[in-house]
Amino acid sequence: MISPVDDFLPVRLKAVHDMAVEGLDDLTGRRIIDVGSDHGHLSLYALIHDNFKSAVLTDIHEAPAKRSEDTLRMYGYADRSEVYCTDGLDGVELNEGDIIVMAGLGGNNMIDIMGRVAQREDAQLLKSLVWCLQPQKSSDKLRQYLFESGFEITDENACEDRGINYVILKAVYTGVKADYTLKQKYYGPVILKRAKSGEEDALRYKQRLDERFNIAQRGDEEIRKMLEEV
Ligand SMILES: C[S@@+](CC[C@H](N)C(=O)[O-])C[C@H]1O[C@@H](n2cnc3c(N)ncnc32)[C@H](O)[C@@H]1O
Repeated sequence: MISPVDDFLPVRLKAVHDMAVEGLDDLTGRRIIDVGSDHGHLSLYALIHDNFKSAVLTDIHEAPAKRSEDTLRMYGYADRSEVYCTDGLDGVELNEGDIIVMAGLGGNNMIDIMGRVAQREDAQLLKSLVWCLQPQKSSDKLRQYLFESGFEITDENACEDRGINYVILKAVYTGVKADYTLKQKYYGPVILKRAKSGEEDALRYKQRLDERFNIAQRGDEEIRKMLEEV
């Protein structure tokens, strides 16, 4: 079915959606949870294009939560969606197999939200969740949190939308802390592999980071050390 939503889901959110559902065969028993849903377009797109059982949308502010609710209702998905005005996933009951998307939030905000979930849920449920994350900033801190808190970064890619480069990560909880290099923390383990094999989006993203880190190293010892890593 062609929908007006196809026209206004930006390249960035389409890339987030595609990574979220990539490799997952049967979505019929799963929910997509969009934290920081704002307009609700990502969930609407997923409900139209995938077989998700339902969508859960959360936003910390009332106006965007209302916008999300209006969008889903306007397109006839009120009965397959729930909208919460809450901080992250506070007060939201998680189900096994939920796919949780956080796009356009800062990395530190994501760490707080994931940390609270990790504290309250048992390991079996945590291991069944899929996280798809598009941090607006602090992706290095987010990766460090994931490596050190028992999450595995299963995929990563970059996209360019209206001249801005974005990184998207997919992570699952394994309970096993990972060793990591500073290059993996700052560039991303999968981005490095993709760039090495010449993938255009990852290469362009890496080149932008190269430029940024070359300047930042002057005042940041860890970045200087990272650039010296082989
Ligand atoms: C920049 S918008 C991004 C909207 C959409 N996810 C996207 O990528 O286009 C960030 C949204 O996240 C919401 N937000 C920020 N921190 C949040 C939190 N801790 N919990 C839930 N929503 C949050 C804001 O109110 C805002 O609507």
